[in-house]
Amino acid sequence: MSTAFRPDGADAPLTPADDTDALLRVNNLTKYFPIKQGILIQRQIGAVKAVDGVSFAVRAGETLGLVGESGCGKSTTGRVVTKLLDPTAGEIYFDGQDIAKLKRHQMRSLRTDIQMIFQDPYSSLNPRHTIGTIVGAPFRIQKTKTDKGVKAEVQSLMERVGLNPEHYNRYPHEFSGGQRQRIGIARAIALRPKLIVCDEPVSALDVSIQAQVVNLLEDLQSEFGLTYIFVAHDLSVVRHIADRVAVMYLGKVMELAPRDTLYSTPMHPYTHSLMSAVPVPDPKKEGRRERILLIGDLPSPINPPPGCVFHTRCPKYRAVLSETDRERCRSEVPVLEAKAPSQFVACHFPEVRADIASGEDAGISGGESGTVGSESEAGTGATAL
Ligand SMILES: Nc1ncnc2c1ncn2[C@@H]1O[C@H](COP(=O)(O)OP(=O)(O)OP(=O)(O)O)[C@@H](O)[C@H]1O
Ligand code: SF4
Ligand SMILES: [Mg+2]
Repeated sequence: MSTAFRPDGADAPLTPADDTDALLRVNNLTKYFPIKQGILIQRQIGAVKAVDGVSFAVRAGETLGLVGESGCGKSTTGRVVTKLLDPTAGEIYFDGQDIAKLKRHQMRSLRTDIQMIFQDPYSSLNPRHTIGTIVGAPFRIQKTKTDKGVKAEVQSLMERVGLNPEHYNRYPHEFSGGQRQRIGIARAIALRPKLIVCDEPVSALDVSIQAQVVNLLEDLQSEFGLTYIFVAHDLSVVRHIADRVAVMYLGKVMELAPRDTLYSTPMHPYTHSLMSAVPVPDPKKEGRRERILLIGDLPSPINPPPGCVFHTRCPKYRAVLSETDRERCRSEVPVLEAKAPSQFVACHFPEVRADIASGEDAGISGGESGTVGSESEAGTGATAL
């Protein structure tokens, strides 16, 4: 029986995907990768349940942070939403249209509207192509501009993302990691998309450069009215940029809430553990906070635990609950439902843990975005712009 509610008669959504103003609504999204065996005749013997019934909505102009440890299905969710992969099941409404079942040839306008920025700015750029060719590719595919027009547009984009336009003919290896990520960003915004899935765009970068790239993404968001899904491993990275945050574990969303709500009143035991790793600026408070370490390995997505997929590692299950309650965790899949206004939690026994909440956003530092010559990186052999 659902305990979802709409508190105070407010217009808080009833379900994670119930948001008529959303640019993107994802409902019960599932992506299983089949495991096959056999030499002549291949039989499916199982499946990697990479994404298993994920629901969320992203409003125009907002940033949804997607957080969780390695292998929980963040990139797969991003790739399915951008239709680089087809979903196994579920609905993806983009701008009111269900794009889940669109075939490749029906995707032309979508290829303009939805873009992706990848974690590794090196392997996502073709090393044999110049920056001019890479960033200009979307225009050439669209055939909307002359060669001269493409060059002018690419140079203006390079300038906008903080690269020297005179480096139009250089190759990816001539740039630092941060600069390469700027190239990826220029390519992604070339056709003025509505939605960009940023898949760990700063994880591979030096910490000081991370802040510059995040700031650049924020500036571009307000300038072009972009909507982001921002993927990250931990809650520290998305804290500054995300308006709302979805916490994933083993292919499922465990908690989804507005940023300030999540960081001040986290409810899911898995969120508690991730939150306890977020440093707080006040050393006294930091000293008092409990660090919740999860025991045991991440279960395989080929054979996830029954009931609540987190129960094999849940500290509450291990140390607090009665045997009757544990039996419920083992046998009944908790539904992601509203436990407070706009705060969705997939747990039978949610609990606010203000003691491990990380409090106010300390902000992000690291210099101005988009400033030519603002970036340096040791050991990359990069050309300083
Ligand atoms: N093409 C594929 N074929 C089979 N399994 C895959 C494929 N792509 C991903 N997986 C599996 O799906 C699960 C989710 O992978 P995914 O890359 O989405 O996780 P992630 O949260 O992005 O992890 P990371 O933080 O390491 O990037 C993993 O178990 C992964 O091994
Ligand atoms: S449902 Fe049970 S096992 Fe799952 S997170 Fe909640 S308390 Fe832990
Ligand atoms: Mg990933």
